[in-house]
Parts: sequence; structure tokens; C-alpha cells
Amino acid sequence: MAAPWRRARSTGTEAEFRSFAFDHLSFAYGEGEDAVETVRDFSLEVKAGEFVTIVGPSGCGKSTLFNVASGLTPAMPGGVRVNGEPLTGVNPYTAYMFQRDALLDWRDVLGNVSLGREFLGASKKEAEAGLRESLAEFGLEGFDKRRPYELSGGMRQRVALMRTYATDRPVLLLDEPFGALDALTRLRMQEFLLRRWDDDHRTVIFITHDVDEALLLGDRVIVLTPRPARICEEIEVGLERPRNAEALMVSPDYISMRARIMHLLHGNPAVAAREELVA
Ligand SMILES: Nc1ncnc2c1ncn2[C@@H]1O[C@H](COP(=O)(O)OP(=O)(O)O)[C@@H](O)[C@H]1O
Ligand SMILES: [Mg+2]
Repeated sequence: MAAPWRRARSTGTEAEFRSFAFDHLSFAYGEGEDAVETVRDFSLEVKAGEFVTIVGPSGCGKSTLFNVASGLTPAMPGGVRVNGEPLTGVNPYTAYMFQRDALLDWRDVLGNVSLGREFLGASKKEAEAGLRESLAEFGLEGFDKRRPYELSGGMRQRVALMRTYATDRPVLLLDEPFGALDALTRLRMQEFLLRRWDDDHRTVIFITHDVDEALLLGDRVIVLTPRPARICEEIEVGLERPRNAEALMVSPDYISMRARIMHLLHGNPAVAAREELVA
């Protein structure tokens, strides 16, 4: 059933989501001599309910993949498929959390959380329906009237995350959501996201450059090459859920997968050279 705030205006997402795919996607910014080839022959299918993490060096094309997946950046026809069908225009199944938290300082917490729904066509009142009551789930109880600049880094990220969840879109595209946080806050946020996912199994595609984060969260880890982004290796994580970061980090399977991904990213001279260039 459609969420109450969507009753007034259909957003076209009523058809059940089954799968999302990049299908031999290639992408370049610009044309001719100035073209920046960013993605090359990239294929990846994500089924409903999966949590897939994508890890790759800075500047390799990770955010570009999300820009194309969400339909914000048009790409070659058929390069992105939803339920097997080529995507045309904006993707009606995805909610995209940008690399920068993009909170509006002149709106309070509730006004920021409801913003995603408003972008989808709901009025402010419709968009806010039920959200004040759900703030507690994101550790924001009692903060509805606060402004973003009054919040800690972790809280800001929870506001942005809640805004993404509140759209009720079946696929969440999370682009380095915890990249700017200190290590301890990041760990808390990772555990928070894990518990949420244990509860609702929303399809998540999660971009990071942090190998531990990729392994802690994902069912699969997709390791990318330097630009143009291609799949270097795909790793089935297979670690039991519910997961606990402290317990995982001493598990032999975790340690060997971590070493493998580190080797792919840092032992690879092409990757190392690019990392130095962007550092
Ligand atoms: N609008 C743009 N025009 C030209 N080049 C771009 C544009 N956006 C990104 N790039 C370039 O494309 C490459 C990949 O960018 P991006 O997808 O943001 O990488 P990542 O998210 O992996 O750091 C980078 O070299 C970047 O400089
Ligand atoms: Mg990026």
C-alpha cells in the first residue's frame, strides 16, 4: 500500500522492485579530446533486499555510478536497468544520499527529514506525516526543532540518512555517508545502519573507500579499479548476521578478505599511483 503522504500524488513506484543492474555501462564526461572516461564496461546486478558495498580509490568513478544509477546524469541507453527494463529519465526506485550531507541550515531537523518526500511532490504537511514520531528510531528524539548547525556530525548524518529512508524508495544509494566522521562516531553509525538493515532489509548500495566499512556492512564487496571504473574483483562476504564490528575484526575470514582487498587496492601499482596523484 502506498504511504499516506503519497496518496495525493502517485510517484510511479508502485510496481514491485525486483532488481537493479548496470549493464555494460560505459560513461565519459565531455566529448572528443576533452572527454574524461570515467566508467568502462561496468556490469553489476543487485537483487531486492541485498546490501552491496562498492569500494574503490578516490576519483575512480564511484559517485558517477550513483549519478547515473539515480538517473540524474543521463547515460547510454540500456546501461542501467530496473527489473530488467532500461531506465529512462530519473530512477523512480532510488533514494540517493549524496556524498555531502546537503542539509539546509534554515530548516529545522524535521524540515530537513521531510525534504526528500517534498522533492517527490508531497506538501510540507503530507511530507511530515509520521516523521516526528519516528525521530527516536534515528536517535533524534526531541531534536525536531533544532537546526543542523546545532547538531554533532553523527546527528547530521542521521538526519540525512533518515531523510533518505523516509522517501520509502526501495533502493538506497548511500555515497560515503560516514566518510567525514571520526572513527568512533563512524563505528556507531555503521552499527546503527546494520541494525536498521537487519530490521527492514531495504536494498542498499553503499559506496566507501574504507575497506573495513565495506566488509562490515556488505553481503558482497565490489572492488573497483582506478578510473575508468571497472570491476577489479567481487567478494562474497558470507559473514554471519547480525554482525558486530569488534567480533568480526578478529575473525580469520574477515582478516583474509581484508588483506585481499587491501592488496587489490594498494598492492596494485596502478591504484597506488592514482592515489598519490589525488592525495
Ligand atoms: N562533471 C564532471 N566533469 C568532468 N569530470 C568530472 C565531473 N565529475 C567528476 N569528474 C571526474 O570524473 C572522475 C570520477 O569522479 P567521481 O565519480 O566523483 O569519483 P569518486 O566518487 O570515485 O571519487 C574524477 O576524475 C573527476 O574529476
Ligand atoms: Mg565520490
